Amino acid sequence: MVRIVEVGPRDGLQNEPTAVPTAEKAAFVQRLLESGLKEIEATSFVSPKWVPQLGDAAELWPLLPKGGLYSALVPNERGLDRALETGVQRIALFTAASDAFTQKNINMTVAESLDVFSAVMERFRSERPEGWVRGYVSTAFECPYAGKVDPSATADVARRLLEMGADEVSLGDTIGVAVPREVRALERALGLPKEKVAWHFHDTRGTAVANIAEALSLGYTVFDSSAGGLGGCPYAPGAGGNLATEDLLYFLDRSGVPTGVDHRLVAEASLPILSLLGRSPSSKAQLALLSRP
Ligand code: HMG
Ligand code: MG
Repeated sequence: MVRIVEVGPRDGLQNEPTAVPTAEKAAFVQRLLESGLKEIEATSFVSPKWVPQLGDAAELWPLLPKGGLYSALVPNERGLDRALETGVQRIALFTAASDAFTQKNINMTVAESLDVFSAVMERFRSERPEGWVRGYVSTAFECPYAGKVDPSATADVARRLLEMGADEVSLGDTIGVAVPREVRALERALGLPKEKVAWHFHDTRGTAVANIAEALSLGYTVFDSSAGGLGGCPYAPGAGGNLATEDLLYFLDRSGVPTGVDHRLVAEASLPILSLLGRSPSSKAQLALLSRP
């Protein structure tokens, strides 16, 4: 069984110029949950000055339907204060393998971010002993500002996040450049327990499913995706959409890998949001499903 971490409500909406009303976000999460997705990254407790689209995190949280495992991004102590006040049990800390990117994204170097996250992790653990922490390593393959990233740099940051106490790390192909050969090269450099590593592919160049196939064949089972292929990072020009959950599910279902998720319901889940944003569906599997009687 693989685990799918649905990041649509967070990664999918953080980059959109149109503001989505809070109630629409909650309804989107409800539809995702009904499709069988359990782990859903619902929002971010980042600065609303930096990402106004998710400024309603504290209002959204109590509206989330019961039964999901919801997480939220936390960038600093202020974000942790807000997340704790809101009752969040699962947080995601996010840094990168490249200083140039972390400077633009969170106004810190990688080393500074690890110091901040170490303190955030410690406080979260003491206040939420049952809580769960994910650590993201963005620009795992390439940085939009500094170019190619050495696999050892990504591996080093991932290892430090796990040593610090993260339950898992997610390796982000933030601008969607990687191909399977690079997945293999990064995996060779990692040397981490496979069950603690998730793969987060943006599908900018249509290589995400090929990369998933590679990671799966190497024994990895945790994958991030976004319903309707929504997504992007406001601080990574050209990030493009995330791997669409529909495309991931089509590949897994047809490969005989159980997911427990109804791909038809996922294909329908993002439609009201896409229409609100004035976008047409772009996931190939979603389009194929919708065109069938
Ligand atoms: P800063 O400007 O250096 O921080 O930003 P600051 O401490 O100077 O604060 C500036 C203002 O924001 C202050 O308000 C703070 O109180 C407030 P003012 O005094 O001016 O009124 N503030 C906050 N308010 C609410 N919640 C907070 C918070 N923090 C400060 N948590 C900061 C530093 C980290 C805050 C900022 O850079 C930030 O929020 N960045 C987030 C960027 C972001 O969300 N990027 C997208 C997510 S990462 C991603 O998409 C990649 C991923 O998907 C994986 C992949 O694809 O690779 C995860
Ligand atoms: Mg992302």
